[in-house]
Amino acid sequence: MDTRFNKSQKQKSVIFSVLLFAFLFNINFVSAQDGEKLFKQNCAVCHSVGKNKVVGPGLEGVTSRVPSEEWMAKWIKNNSAVIKSGDAYAKKILAENNGMQMTVFASLSDADIKALIAYIKNPPVVVAPVAQTGAGQEEAEKVINPLAIILGVVALLIILISILRGLTFSLKNVQNEKHGLPLERKQGAWTELKAWMGAHKRSVALIVIFALGGFLSAAWDGLMGIGVYQGYKPSQPIAFSHKIHAGDNAINCQYCHSGVERSKTAGIPSVNVCMNCHKGISKGPITGTKEIAKIYAAAGWDPDKGAYTKPQQPIIWTKVHNLPDFVFFSHQQHVKVGKQQCATCHGDLTTMTIAQQFTPMTMGWCINCHRTTEVPGMKDNPYYESLHKKLSEKYKGQPITVDKMGGIECAKCHY
Ligand code: HEC
Ligand code: HEC
Ligand code: HEC
Ligand code: HEC
Ligand code: HEC
Ligand code: HEC
Repeated sequence: MDTRFNKSQKQKSVIFSVLLFAFLFNINFVSAQDGEKLFKQNCAVCHSVGKNKVVGPGLEGVTSRVPSEEWMAKWIKNNSAVIKSGDAYAKKILAENNGMQMTVFASLSDADIKALIAYIKNPPVVVAPVAQTGAGQEEAEKVINPLAIILGVVALLIILISILRGLTFSLKNVQNEKHGLPLERKQGAWTELKAWMGAHKRSVALIVIFALGGFLSAAWDGLMGIGVYQGYKPSQPIAFSHKIHAGDNAINCQYCHSGVERSKTAGIPSVNVCMNCHKGISKGPITGTKEIAKIYAAAGWDPDKGAYTKPQQPIIWTKVHNLPDFVFFSHQQHVKVGKQQCATCHGDLTTMTIAQQFTPMTMGWCINCHRTTEVPGMKDNPYYESLHKKLSEKYKGQPITVDKMGGIECAKCHY
């Protein structure tokens, strides 16, 4: 495997195992017979069920295009074998797609393939997905900077003091006039302040302590990080665009980030994953051949010869997110168990040309979401179901949020 973060060795080895796992089980790891699900897991990265071409041809009306449904079943299961048999139609579509080869799906059962064909023939009407924004994120954004509050209060106090000063001064002179005493001259504010401070040493000490305390607490909150890394958008060694891949070409996030449902880390795809498609796609709509040539350089691929001629080099991507090492965060827990959407935490990557940190990812942000998000029941996991039921009884029908399950205990997130 060849994609590395410029971070610690430990992380590299975690990513290595994730990628190895992802490679071994790849996307062929399927047992269900739900056509739509099978299609999304295996085919949608390269095909749409409409007219538009993704990597392979759009599959609308394909059943009337191919020689027969049996042919199509054979093709889906092992297109390589069909091509080798010298099949004329296979030759034709291969030529139409620049010799780009489809994945072999040896692990799909006959029933799976039947379900797939039924789905391709009759797909549901597609509705554009709406990006979800989580309550946690909105809450985090509503937090007002404490420094602003303190500055506002100080400004108000100064205004109040100067009004009071003017008032006592005029009242005093009204008194003096009544009693026939000489009128006082208005002194400079600073001289008066010094005189007052000399006479009230204890109050001055208290004010200083309060001000210092306020300043320190504002500084602490600032350091706790609201907005420190949010919006971080490093430039990358290859101008990889999520908009082009996950947006325009609707490639599933999990095709590249295959760790999200089964491991702590989502993982970054290796050059091999890029080559699955880029062997056949050497030109992009914006950067032409320039950026894709960097993939070939990393993979050691010679596009003229159509062969790997040099050793592979890893692409050193710059990490966008960097939680401190003492924090435990698991994608599996959130995506698979907690059923949270990528966009809730990462924003809508399908519209981003350059990946960036979308949410604050501070402790306050994690905890806010844990306080407000309900834990989905796990029908297929008896342990979670019974836990969920007990908690429902304890809290008498109140929503079971993550914090009620202990999700804001320090040790859950800190090693
Ligand atoms: C890595 C990309 C890729 C994946 C994944 C993929 N295909 Fe393909 N598919 C292609 C390409 C490219 C072609 C065109 C023939 C060629 O060049 O091999 C094709 C051709 C086809 C055809 C014939 C299309 C025609 O116009 O005659 C069918 C049917 C098909 N694929 C079905 C599927 C199904 C079903 C799946 C999922 C189980 C799938 N493909 C997954 C790339 C892919
Ligand atoms: C074709 C492969 C591919 C697809 C599809 C894809 N990504 Fe990525 N993703 C990458 C690569 C390569 C990087 C590293 C380069 C970068 O940061 O842009 C990355 C980086 C990221 C990062 C930043 C990681 C970091 O460094 O902290 C996030 C978050 C992310 N992807 C989320 C998503 C989501 C959500 C989707 C689906 C909407 C998605 N990706 C689809 C390949 C892909
Ligand atoms: C509950 C919030 C949350 C959800 C939901 C979520 N992520 Fe993440 N993601 C994070 C955090 C936090 C990090 C930073 C982890 C770190 O630095 O250790 C991260 C990091 C990443 C990275 C960088 C590499 C890595 O594994 O650390 C990628 C890629 C990524 N996420 C992709 C995805 C995709 C794809 C989805 C949806 C299937 C998703 N994430 C859903 C919070 C989330
Ligand atoms: C599932 C197929 C697929 C995978 C995997 C894939 N790409 Fe792409 N890539 C595409 C398609 C489709 C295009 C757009 C081609 C077009 O519109 O002409 C593209 C375009 C590009 C472009 C050109 C964009 C531009 O601005 O012109 C770059 C650079 C690129 N990909 C990099 C990568 C990298 C790096 C990886 C691996 C992390 C990767 N791709 C993985 C399908 C894929
Ligand atoms: C968008 C909402 C959301 C955000 C943001 C979020 N979480 Fe969670 N988290 C959940 C949900 C939902 C669960 C419950 C999953 C389950 O059913 O076990 C969960 C569970 C957890 C658990 C397991 C708790 C337990 O009781 O076993 C840990 C640990 C955790 N989250 C850590 C984090 C950390 C660290 C962050 C911030 C970097 C974070 N979470 C941000 C929604 C969120
Ligand atoms: C839901 C997950 C979660 C829980 C529960 C949690 N933390 Fe944190 N904590 C984080 C994250 C994420 C960070 C790093 C981001 C940041 O600095 O805000 C962090 C950072 C910290 C820091 C370092 C602050 C800094 O600025 O470097 C301390 C200290 C800390 N936590 C203490 C605690 C204590 C004490 C508890 C229990 C009352 C606790 N945490 C519970 C997620 C959590």
